[in-house]
Order: sequence, then C-alpha cells, then structure tokens
Amino acid sequence: MNRMRLHINVDHVATLRNARDAGYPDPIEAARVCLDAGASGITAHLREDRRHIRDEDVHRLRELLKDSTFNLEMAATNEMVAIACEVKPDVVTLVPERRQERTTEGGLEIAKASRALSDHVAALRRQKIKVSLFIAADAEQVDASHALGVEQIELHTGEYSHAFGGLGETQELARLAAAAKRGRALGLEIAAGHGLTTENVPALVSIPEIVEFNIGHAVIADAVFLGLAGAVRAMLAAITEARGTPVR
Ligand code: PXP
Repeated sequence: MNRMRLHINVDHVATLRNARDAGYPDPIEAARVCLDAGASGITAHLREDRRHIRDEDVHRLRELLKDSTFNLEMAATNEMVAIACEVKPDVVTLVPERRQERTTEGGLEIAKASRALSDHVAALRRQKIKVSLFIAADAEQVDASHALGVEQIELHTGEYSHAFGGLGETQELARLAAAAKRGRALGLEIAAGHGLTTENVPALVSIPEIVEFNIGHAVIADAVFLGLAGAVRAMLAAITEARGTPVR
C-alpha cells in the first residue's frame, strides 16, 4: 500500500484564540497534540488579512515541525512568497484568496495563470520549498499545473463534499479519480482537501493516487465533542479542589 499523509489544518484554533485575543487556545499547542495523535504534518493558512494564523504562528510552527511536515497555505503574492522564503516551510500550497470568502472557495486558475504565478513558483523552488497547487479536479488545471513545474497538486474536494450522500456523489468521485490519475501519470504527487469528514473521506481512500489529505474544519469541530466532556471535568476539578467540596 502507498504511504498516506494526514495534515491537520489548525486555522480554526487561531480563529478561536483571536475571538478574545486572550492568547489561548494556542494553535501551536494544538499542532503538538495533532502530531502526538499521529498526524504526519500541520497545515496553516497565512491570509493577507491575518484573520486566523499570524506571522508569529508561522515562525513558531516552523520551530515545532522540525521532524514533520509544515505545509504553509498562502496566496501567490510578493508579500507571501517573501515570508515563505524566509520561514522555509517544507511545502507551500498556493491557493486563491478573496477577502470576502469565509474559506478557500475555489481552486487556482492555473490554466489562465499569469507570468507572476510562474515567477512565484520559481522563487519558492529556488529555496527548495516543495510547491503544491490547490486546483479543481479538471484536466486543464492538472495539465497546466504540470507545465508550471510543481511537485504536487491538491485537488479541491469541496464540490465532492457538497455532493456527498446525494445524486452527484458518484460523478464527483469519478471526477476526482480521473484528475488524480492524470496528475499521477504526469509525475505529480496528489493531495486532496476541503470539506472532508470522517464520513466522506473513506471513499477517497479508494483512489490510489491520493497520498495526502489536508483536513481542518471537521477535525476541530469533532474535537469540541470528543473533548468537551474532558474540558468540563477539568473545570469542575479545579473548582472542587479550591472549594474542598464538589460543585452541585
Ligand atoms: N486544503 C486547502 C488548500 C484549504 O484551503 C483548506 C481550507 O483552509 C483545507 C484544505 C481544509 O479544508 P477544511 O477546513 O474544510 O477541512
């Protein structure tokens, strides 16, 4: 069997921290927990507006992720490429970025890409940073990504996740499988991400070319329920210890 990588996106932990600006929860502490639990690496998206991950987080993640993979998601801009060249994550995933969007809504338009994109890819490659392009599962985008000379593509699974459990599921799965096969045949490594959950990820495991998943929202959401009881118990224990009698 192929090796499979799971990278956990910790952006939502930073969103929660920033909601109060209280310094917790710390996304780097979350990254440590994810690694201890078996994740192969950590993904974080440094957005132009710094709405979740901040510059300091990126430096701290680099420090933490010495023996595992740091995948920095970012827009293909001069500012971000300069940061990446300084921080040197193991992988940069280039994503489209629109200020108004809540999350990365589409893939990059590689086929109509500007000269600037290939310059950015070249600058990252010169620093020996692996480059991955987040694209829709379309032949045109796969071929154009290959032409840009990147090592990896990440197929956008948002449409599959929306179609999951409905009439379009089989078609979206077939679309992803075809793009994965095409990319692999061109020598690209194939990752997948966006909207993946414990329910919809198993079907993707059957696409043999996919060797990496990048998952954030569902894991952080599940953490609320898988860990909330423990958090309540910890608070009860703190109060009980101080009072000397249980909370009732
Ligand atoms: N991969 C990429 C390129 C993304 O932009 C995102 C969202 O930040 C993800 C994966 C993770 O998506 P989700 O949070 O829906 O699991």
